[in-house]
Amino acid sequence: MFAERLYCGKLTRSDVDKEILLAGWVDRRRDHGGIIFIMLRDVSGIVQIVADESLNRETALIADKLRNEFCICVKGTVRLRGSESVNPDMKTGEIEIVASSIEILSESEVPPFQIETRDHIHEDIRLKYRYLDLRRENMQISLIKRHEMMQTTRNYLVKNNFIEIETPVLNKSTPEGARDFLVPSRLHGGQFYALPQSPQLFKQILMISGFDRYFNIVKCFRDEDLRNDRQPEFTQIDMELSFIDQQMIMKIIEGLLKDIVKTVTGKEIGSDFPVLSYEDAMERYGKDAPDTRFGLELLTVTDIFKDSEFKVFKNTIDTGGVIKVLPVESGDKITRKMLDDYTEWVKIFKAGGLPNCRFRGGNFEGGISKFLSEDEKKKLIEKCTLKDDTVLFFGCDRKQVVNDSLGNLRIKIAKDIDIIDQEKLNFVWVTQFPLLEYSYEDKRYFAKHHPFTAPAAESMDKLNNITPENVDDILAQAYDIVLNGVEIGGGSIRINRPEIQSRMFDLIGINEEEANEKFSFLLDALKFGAPPHGGLALGLDRIMMILLQRESIREVIAFPKTQRGQCMMSQAPSAVAKDQLKELSLRISEIKND
Ligand code: AMO
Repeated sequence: MFAERLYCGKLTRSDVDKEILLAGWVDRRRDHGGIIFIMLRDVSGIVQIVADESLNRETALIADKLRNEFCICVKGTVRLRGSESVNPDMKTGEIEIVASSIEILSESEVPPFQIETRDHIHEDIRLKYRYLDLRRENMQISLIKRHEMMQTTRNYLVKNNFIEIETPVLNKSTPEGARDFLVPSRLHGGQFYALPQSPQLFKQILMISGFDRYFNIVKCFRDEDLRNDRQPEFTQIDMELSFIDQQMIMKIIEGLLKDIVKTVTGKEIGSDFPVLSYEDAMERYGKDAPDTRFGLELLTVTDIFKDSEFKVFKNTIDTGGVIKVLPVESGDKITRKMLDDYTEWVKIFKAGGLPNCRFRGGNFEGGISKFLSEDEKKKLIEKCTLKDDTVLFFGCDRKQVVNDSLGNLRIKIAKDIDIIDQEKLNFVWVTQFPLLEYSYEDKRYFAKHHPFTAPAAESMDKLNNITPENVDDILAQAYDIVLNGVEIGGGSIRINRPEIQSRMFDLIGINEEEANEKFSFLLDALKFGAPPHGGLALGLDRIMMILLQRESIREVIAFPKTQRGQCMMSQAPSAVAKDQLKELSLRISEIKND
């Protein structure tokens, strides 16, 4: 019966007078006494059905019984709407279907929320009834666009000689920095698989096996604290290439991202993506994932204050800290209350305070202005090319605290005073990352990207004289791609020589025994003619979230987890039967209730 079914949203005036069959859900129903209008919805859109008692009494009686979300099948004839009832806001607003028969395929209870409403519905309810939520237009757009983006990705990569290869899900853990999700083994009681945080090692092995361009649209799993742009299971567009250099990889990814933007938003990005060094990004934006859609850049002014009368500045400099300033033009938009709120807010980032003052009518006013010498004022005006009515916010602390607090404040202020152009898509590459970072807490080095990243050629010699102080000078061949202040992808050229890989493990405190236990297969494989190789992984969900201008990553995933890592619909995670645990040689020692 459905063989001739057409799509509601695809009907146009060219279909007028055709006898057609449609199937879908009742979006709305209006009874005009004798004539019932039904908005019928399927995956392609909505069309108006008319059941007219004077034309067909039986059909009108069925139409009378219909309620929202009933699943129905309609036969009828397409006709043009009268000029007074044309709806220009509807894709099919010029036409309607005069029903000759309506069949109820399946009834619906009253839904817990209205499908077509624009009102806010609590997210927990939406996620609990995701099957209904996914009937809503916004979610349908999300998932269809996501599908189109994957198609574009496949087309582009295949055209560029990439081969799609799947990698295993039951793995040994790879150190990507987050906690693993573990899966107990039944056959090897007491032993566990780890779900992949990324297919990093397998894709490198594939290069050694001779597949010189690999890709994989792949689920990755990380047990980390969740935010609006993070999920415990998310999708990467994972790529690896042999016989390439960083520039070549960046060019290929740029082409892919431009294609993706075109598919999802229809926008053309003509120019090359700008490139910033990690050092410049931190200096100007206080972040390695800078949002370049607006100015508000930070400036280091430590030198200006080397003889400062202001004790806080003086102490900072004497103890090896830095002073940076964030000048905000149109200072009239910053109220007294905002100044107080910001001073409180930066404490989240461990800043002791937020010294500030105003530059107005050629003078500095309020806040710390009384501590500024004439010489300091002159230099500040020059260095910041200060315009009239600018508020200056200062950060004075360890470099990291200053960057963290002013870098985040910069974004908060831009949102508060509404200077971010939401239509902009600002891509930027960040390169020349440090290879390692030193944790004073743990008293050891960590890989900044991951331990398989190759040092920059000019940093190789310095590896033997590394200290916590010079760690930032040792650079990696790593690169991140950032969109509107969100890291959407990261990658690197890899180490392809076993002795350098062993040295890297050694530096980050993985001793020979541990390295052999965890990665002997990689160290062995590297001995068999490993080609120079490198790659990158894009976060598919994050890209979709930004391109579709959605508030959260959950808006572009069919069945996401909540911030507490739960599936509201299926109620995962859940307890399992004792027998199941026994089979897996497991016993629960503590139950944590929510
Ligand atoms: P990385 O860890 O930078 O690199 O991850 C790549 C990209 O994946 C996305 N991403 C996430 N998206 C949603 N939720 C999460 N929890 C999450 N974690 C990461 C981000 C990120 O930029 N193996 C390396 C890549 C390589 O070196 O080739 C890797 O996984 O957009």
